[in-house]
Amino acid sequence: TGRCNDNIRKHEAKVVDMIDIENIANTAAFCRCWKTKNWPYCDGSHGEHNKNTGDNVGPVVIKRK
Ligand code: FES
Repeated sequence: TGRCNDNIRKHEAKVVDMIDIENIANTAAFCRCWKTKNWPYCDGSHGEHNKNTGDNVGPVVIKRK
């Protein structure tokens, strides 16, 4: 099987992001496709990835009620 991470912080043994809930605006979309140019946030790049590969990935969206 192949790697999913082509570009993001490849020098790190494991990419982990800790984000305080207080620092998230009312809505935040976090990338799950690993193609974003704005890690850890979704920038819409999953659309191109899905089109090119037949995949169906998208972000996880956090919303404040
Ligand atoms: Fe990766 Fe949207 S860019 S989920």
